[in-house]
Amino acid sequence: MSRYAHMAFSFSFFFIIFISFIIPLAFSQLPPQNQIDIIKTISKNISSSSWKTANQNPCFWEGVTCTGNSITGISLSKLGISSTGILTDLCKIDSLQSVDVSNNQISGNPDGFLNDCGKLTGLKVLNISMNRLTGPLPTFSGFPVLESLDLSYNSLSGVIDFQLDGLVSLKNLDLSKNSFGGSVPTRLGKNPGLQKLQLSNNKFSGPFPEKLLNYPNLTLLDLSVNKLSGSIPTTLGNFTNLQTLILSSNNLDGEIPQSLSRMTNLSRFSANLNRFNGAIPPGLTQYLNILDLSYNSLAGLIPVDLLSPPNLQSVDLMKNLLEGEIPTNISSNLLRLRLSENSLNGSIPSSIGKLQGLTYLELEGNKLTGSIPLELENCVKLTLLNLASNWLQGPLPKGLGKLLQLVVLKLSGNQFTGEIPPEISQFTNLSTIDLSRNFLTGNIPSGITSLGWLSILNLGCNNLNGSIPASISGSFSLLEIQLGRNMLGGDIPRMPSSLQIALNLSNNHFSGPIPSTLSSLTSLEVLDLSNNQFTGEVPTFLVQLGSLNRLLLSNNNLSGTLPRFHTWTTVESDGNSDLKAPTPNPSPSPTIVSRIPSPRWKINPIILVAIAAVVGVAIHTVVVAAIVLKVSRRPYRVDKNRGSEENLHQLNDGHLSTADRIHRSNINFRKAIKSVYDPLMF
Ligand SMILES: *[C@@H]1O[C@H](CO)[C@@H](O)[C@H](O)[C@H]1NC(C)=O
Ligand SMILES: *[C@@H]1O[C@H](CO)[C@@H](O)[C@H](O)[C@H]1NC(C)=O
Ligand SMILES: *[C@@H]1O[C@H](CO)[C@@H](O)[C@H](O)[C@H]1NC(C)=O
Ligand SMILES: *[C@@H]1O[C@H](CO)[C@@H](O)[C@H](O)[C@H]1NC(C)=O
Ligand SMILES: *[C@@H]1O[C@H](CO)[C@@H](O)[C@H](O)[C@H]1NC(C)=O
Ligand SMILES: *[C@@H]1O[C@H](CO)[C@@H](O)[C@H](O)[C@H]1NC(C)=O
Ligand SMILES: *[C@@H]1O[C@H](CO)[C@@H](O)[C@H](O)[C@H]1NC(C)=O
Ligand SMILES: *[C@@H]1O[C@H](CO)[C@@H](O)[C@H](O)[C@H]1NC(C)=O
Ligand SMILES: *[C@@H]1O[C@H](CO)[C@@H](O)[C@H](O)[C@H]1NC(C)=O
Ligand SMILES: *[C@@H]1O[C@H](CO)[C@@H](O)[C@H](O)[C@H]1NC(C)=O
Ligand SMILES: *[C@@H]1O[C@H](CO)[C@@H](O)[C@H](O)[C@H]1NC(C)=O
Repeated sequence: MSRYAHMAFSFSFFFIIFISFIIPLAFSQLPPQNQIDIIKTISKNISSSSWKTANQNPCFWEGVTCTGNSITGISLSKLGISSTGILTDLCKIDSLQSVDVSNNQISGNPDGFLNDCGKLTGLKVLNISMNRLTGPLPTFSGFPVLESLDLSYNSLSGVIDFQLDGLVSLKNLDLSKNSFGGSVPTRLGKNPGLQKLQLSNNKFSGPFPEKLLNYPNLTLLDLSVNKLSGSIPTTLGNFTNLQTLILSSNNLDGEIPQSLSRMTNLSRFSANLNRFNGAIPPGLTQYLNILDLSYNSLAGLIPVDLLSPPNLQSVDLMKNLLEGEIPTNISSNLLRLRLSENSLNGSIPSSIGKLQGLTYLELEGNKLTGSIPLELENCVKLTLLNLASNWLQGPLPKGLGKLLQLVVLKLSGNQFTGEIPPEISQFTNLSTIDLSRNFLTGNIPSGITSLGWLSILNLGCNNLNGSIPASISGSFSLLEIQLGRNMLGGDIPRMPSSLQIALNLSNNHFSGPIPSTLSSLTSLEVLDLSNNQFTGEVPTFLVQLGSLNRLLLSNNNLSGTLPRFHTWTTVESDGNSDLKAPTPNPSPSPTIVSRIPSPRWKINPIILVAIAAVVGVAIHTVVVAAIVLKVSRRPYRVDKNRGSEENLHQLNDGHLSTADRIHRSNINFRKAIKSVYDPLMF
């Protein structure tokens, strides 16, 4: 009995499987002939290979969705389509529910071709983002069930008034990254159930649009990168369904309203790059995951409860006027804490050691005192530790060696004493180490040279003595070595030929002739040997270093005649009493002219700056930008905007990325950043 039951069960089981796999293939019917005709006409203009196949049934073509025997969805994203006619044609397929022609080159004003799509009674999704649409927003008529309209990343302009009135089902509207102006539109279709509204990167001005309360079901509101002014009304708290509120990069001022703390569903609040002032209200982070109030004028103390809620993952209060101490009750789930450039005092709370997931800790530019808490060694996920420019003192704890994931370590501009712990060689992923401007003593630990990703080594302005470890010659990831203003001496080892940004040995006790091994530094832009006791002649191989921008030889004991350098090399040679200026050259040698477009431009600073600016200059990539600026002394002052670049990028992409194409050492960091920020993305 049970055996038969079993067999019967097996049979019916396989039968069902069989049916469910085979039937759709065997019996799926072709769409109606008129739909086939339309889509075949279109296919002639589409470069997608699957649209060129012999399969008679378009339902099998890539990007085509069928329900029953009707075509209901078409996605033609990123196929280089430039014909405006395509939408007119597509919208003849009367069963369509979803049309995606994003990321193409469709140009012109959509007024004409949209009308045809309005007749579709089932169209729910229309995505024309990332094209080249221009002119004003067309007036939508028809579209009885359109729920999602994405026109972002085009060049549409003008004011938005009544154009969307005809849309009665709209739930999701994205007009970001266009050139719309006037006040923020509040007539967004007749559906009070609108859920997502993205208007960032336009030229909207005027006050925060209180009338949006007519859409009480909004869950996402992004008004970033516009020109909104005035203060946020307290009625903001009435948007009880909001989950994401992004007001970054406007001219908003006034206080952050207390009513925000009533918004139980709000998980991300970003209002960075505005002019908010006053104190941060208590309870603000009660329900938040992400808070970004950086680059404002917020003052007073950080509320004691601000960092404590267990749901909190990322807090950024950089560049405000906050004072007092860092609250000690800190959520153990925090991944990122950035309090840089305020006036915080007191010591770094030891409770920070409970934050097992902490990946970014940036406290630069405050008035923090005391020593680095030993508990920090428990934050083993740290990839970025920046405590620079504070009043911290004491030794560098050996336990820091446990922070194996560190990519950037910046402790410069403090009062740290003692030796550099040899444990530093355990940071296998370290790309930037900046311990400059402290009171560190002893030798440079040779382990530092075994860090395979290290590109920036800055130990300048300390009291380090002994000689430079010979093994540095094998550190081919190094781009910059700053050892100026120490008490280093002895033989200068061969330097890695990877050096580009600078080699700074100034203000030390180096003596003897300028070493001939420097001749291999063909990519080097700045060489500072000033304020040592170098003797002998200035070697002519220095002239051959085709990338050299600045050569500093001042205050040594060099003698002979200074060779003639290329016009692009600035040479400082004063304070060498026996050194004679080069004999004036009557006519410029043609070889100099022919060399101008050569190695000096191997890394073109303009391109570098551009890439750095575009890619978004995350925290430590600032290094790259700063370097380029410092080195090339060109008028591209990216660093002034660096905060905004960084923050804009952050709010656009939800995570930080770095200019990984510039230097390989950044690739690791990018991954690390991604892993932290991906879970925070929306
Ligand atoms: C196909 O492209 C040609 C030229 O690029 C254009 O004239 C024609 O209107 C297009 N047809 C469709 C259906 O888009
Ligand atoms: C529209 O298409 C773009 C690019 O393919 C995509 O990123 C975006 O999420 C789409 N919009 C909607 C609302 O799905
Ligand atoms: C808002 O959403 C709720 C729950 O999804 C729904 O019941 C309500 O009808 C919506 N309100 C409006 C105005 O659409
Ligand atoms: C906002 O909510 C409060 C109470 O929750 C209510 O009294 C007030 O009328 C609401 N304001 C608006 C503009 O909806
Ligand atoms: C928060 O969102 C949930 C659904 O995600 C909803 O049920 C609830 O009503 C919202 N809370 C408030 C206060 O609106
Ligand atoms: C720290 O904050 C949490 C969550 O806000 C709270 O439950 C806890 O009581 C606070 N601890 C102390 C010592 O204040
Ligand atoms: C820290 O700053 C606060 C506010 O500016 C001040 O009242 C307090 O005395 C300072 N504490 C120390 C230890 O300097
Ligand atoms: C270094 O980074 C890589 C990827 O970025 C990661 O897989 C690896 O675990 C890191 N090494 C250490 C010691 O953390
Ligand atoms: C370096 O300085 C330390 C004291 O800080 C001293 O003990 C040591 O002898 C010095 N080494 C050299 C090589 O000068
Ligand atoms: C070299 O390092 C010293 C000490 O940090 C610094 O003062 C000097 O400006 C640096 N030289 C160059 C060219 O940057
Ligand atoms: C370097 O020159 C100065 C004077 O210019 C002199 O006093 C000093 O002895 C010289 N040092 C060496 C090592 O030649």
